[in-house]
Amino acid sequence: MDLHFSMFLSIITICSFFLTSLPPSHGQEYESYRACNTNYTCGSLINISYPFWGENRPRYCGRSDMFQLSCDQNQSTSIQVGSENFTVVWIDPFSYTMRMMRRNLVPISCPSNFTITSLNPALFFYRPQTVENMTLFYSCEKQFSSSLPTEIKFNNFTCLNESGKEEQGFYVNETELQKYGEGLPECEVKVKVPVFRDVALGNEGGNEALNTALAHELDMQYTVELGCPGCCGSGGMCGSRMSDISQFSCYCRDGVQDLTCYNHGKSISFLL
Ligand SMILES: *[C@@H]1O[C@H](CO)[C@@H](O)[C@H](O)[C@H]1NC(C)=O
Ligand SMILES: *[C@@H]1O[C@H](CO)[C@@H](O)[C@H](O)[C@H]1NC(C)=O
Ligand SMILES: *[C@@H]1O[C@H](CO)[C@@H](O)[C@H](O)[C@H]1NC(C)=O
Ligand SMILES: *[C@@H]1O[C@H](CO)[C@@H](O)[C@H](O)[C@H]1NC(C)=O
Ligand SMILES: *[C@@H]1O[C@H](CO)[C@@H](O)[C@H](O)[C@H]1NC(C)=O
Ligand SMILES: *[C@@H]1O[C@H](CO)[C@@H](O)[C@H](O)[C@H]1NC(C)=O
Ligand SMILES: *[C@@H]1O[C@H](CO)[C@@H](O)[C@H](O)[C@H]1NC(C)=O
Ligand SMILES: *[C@@H]1O[C@H](CO)[C@@H](O)[C@H](O)[C@H]1NC(C)=O
Ligand SMILES: *[C@@H]1O[C@H](CO)[C@@H](O)[C@H](O)[C@H]1NC(C)=O
Repeated sequence: MDLHFSMFLSIITICSFFLTSLPPSHGQEYESYRACNTNYTCGSLINISYPFWGENRPRYCGRSDMFQLSCDQNQSTSIQVGSENFTVVWIDPFSYTMRMMRRNLVPISCPSNFTITSLNPALFFYRPQTVENMTLFYSCEKQFSSSLPTEIKFNNFTCLNESGKEEQGFYVNETELQKYGEGLPECEVKVKVPVFRDVALGNEGGNEALNTALAHELDMQYTVELGCPGCCGSGGMCGSRMSDISQFSCYCRDGVQDLTCYNHGKSISFLL
């Protein structure tokens, strides 16, 4: 999608943009329209709408289960990405960018398998060139640290596993993984964790350097349905089918439509 088109989309996906120019509605507003015409607000995150849902915005006001936001104490917002919880720092609906920070650091918890592949890249993806995979090994053979290559001998960490027991492990970046690969100690658990690419880890190693990498903010890009601009432009609220969140629906003041609120063959050419 070219830049100009995506900026055009982002302006009109802020649905209320056109609402003031529409005639006032008569009768009672459709309940689902009203539900989706409610923004998510929590702490410093204000006026968040489609494709996000959560708290006061029902699931059908969002695009996918991935876009569920949870508000903690009216202060901070969390989102689950893969198997990990992140704090949402901000969302910019104009550039479709969400900045987030990992919540669980070591030693509080051993990072669980972050199934990067469970993300649907058509909906949600890391901003290209900003992440690299850190590989963490734990539940390793006894005295594994003595068999770590000298260059990475300080890449060790301690964390608490799901049973609250202490585990010892070590970590390598992509370059180190390629370099030492087969020569690394035997471990039961091997997980890949995406971290910000250019974070400076320093030389201290240990939990501190690992946490520096884990805690760094990451930017995600998200997408909206192509049908959304047309829906917004016709005075509707973008959402999804109540029975199937993967299908787009347009919630209008007088009912739900597949694409736009112009359901009697009216032209939508004023948009283009
Ligand atoms: C959020 O939306 C409300 C209602 O339109 C508006 O009054 C308010 O200024 C908006 N807040 C921000 C920060 O944009
Ligand atoms: C929701 O947020 C948008 C964008 O900031 C704003 O224009 C709109 O008025 C808000 N809607 C409500 C119902 O607050
Ligand atoms: C949440 O906090 C904002 C400002 O910090 C306040 O205006 C709002 O009433 C609070 N909402 C709830 C449900 O406590
Ligand atoms: C993420 O946070 C929510 C709310 O705090 C919690 O219910 C959920 O279990 C957490 N999920 C993970 C994988 O930690
Ligand atoms: C990280 O690993 C995942 C799964 O192996 C892969 O799909 C992804 O491309 C990797 N990311 C980078 C930046 O190499
Ligand atoms: C890393 O290994 C050294 C011994 O090689 C040990 O003294 C240190 O406590 C370990 N650090 C962590 C965080 O496990
Ligand atoms: C946690 O660690 C303990 C001790 O190392 C181990 O016995 C247990 O199986 C581990 N639990 C999980 C869920 O990995
Ligand atoms: C990986 O770690 C090595 C140090 O062992 C460092 O020189 C290199 O810059 C790191 N690579 C990346 C991509 O972070
Ligand atoms: C982590 O996920 C990968 C890919 O889904 C899988 O091959 C691997 O066995 C998993 N590891 C653990 C410890 O669950």
